[in-house]
Amino acid sequence: MKNILVIGAAGQIGSELVPYLRKIYGDNHVVATYNRTPLLENVMEGGPSENMDATNGDVLLEVVKKYNIDAIYNLVAVLSARGEANPTLSWQINMDTTFNCLEVMKDIKGAVFTPSSIGAFGPGTPMDNTPQDTVMRPTTIYGISKVAGELLADYYYLKYGVDARGVRYPGIISNVTMPGGGTTDYAVEIYYEAIKNKKYTSNLSAGTFLDMMYMPDALDAAVQIMEADPAKLKHRNCFNISAMSFDPEKIAAAIKKHMPEFELDYNVDPIKQAIADSWPNYMDDSAAREEWGWNPKYDLDKMTADMLEKVAAKLK
Ligand code: SER
Repeated sequence: MKNILVIGAAGQIGSELVPYLRKIYGDNHVVATYNRTPLLENVMEGGPSENMDATNGDVLLEVVKKYNIDAIYNLVAVLSARGEANPTLSWQINMDTTFNCLEVMKDIKGAVFTPSSIGAFGPGTPMDNTPQDTVMRPTTIYGISKVAGELLADYYYLKYGVDARGVRYPGIISNVTMPGGGTTDYAVEIYYEAIKNKKYTSNLSAGTFLDMMYMPDALDAAVQIMEADPAKLKHRNCFNISAMSFDPEKIAAAIKKHMPEFELDYNVDPIKQAIADSWPNYMDDSAAREEWGWNPKYDLDKMTADMLEKVAAKLK
């Protein structure tokens, strides 16, 4: 990869992936694009950027040509809960962007990373130790767009030789940019509320286990899969990856180790709860471990210590 385009660089993952990629590949080789939400100052000033709507294929092609792009990290998505409030918009944004990225790389034979998600699974999927290859019948528009994206990416690889790769991210926990409209957002908010008020009201019920991951591991995963030896990849789009699985009680217990007075109570959001109930409790990510050496560094306790420290410094 010589010149990389990051679409969705103002988002939760993009705002941290751009500086991470610039350290590896060089500041001028990573172009950050955004649409409505402005870029963070360090992302804007750290290298090239473009204000661009990636649902417009002509505009995307122009930018790809301008910077001689050979790899795209396509991070644009309307997340699960927000998608249920506006399924039409969610489908358009998620699918048009994915389709356009694959289409512009058809002639260039470049690379495309599009994250899939735990949201690609559905109620018929085995919930414990969810296999890499299993039933995928999601019931959210977000999940349906993720399964379609996985299939489309495989298709563009098989038919046109586009080097499309991806992972199924779990809930991502981070402290730079807030996620927006996801079912797993509570696991970010809980740290902010712990620092601000020493209490949190969870919108998912006790016993709702979901796969999760701290941002440093999510960034590593994105680069590792794109740099992996293609000869070793049997599953290109998309690999189950996880770093931990917890429910609200377990994350609260991890916070209490640092803050014994922390309190958790519940006000369950039925829409988010139904979505969470349709997703795996924990995935089997052995294919990622075997095919490209996936090996996350953060578990719940290590992440909690770091999150509390970083969020406290940020809110000071
Ligand atoms: N974090 C996403 C969501 O909750 C899942 O990929 O929608």
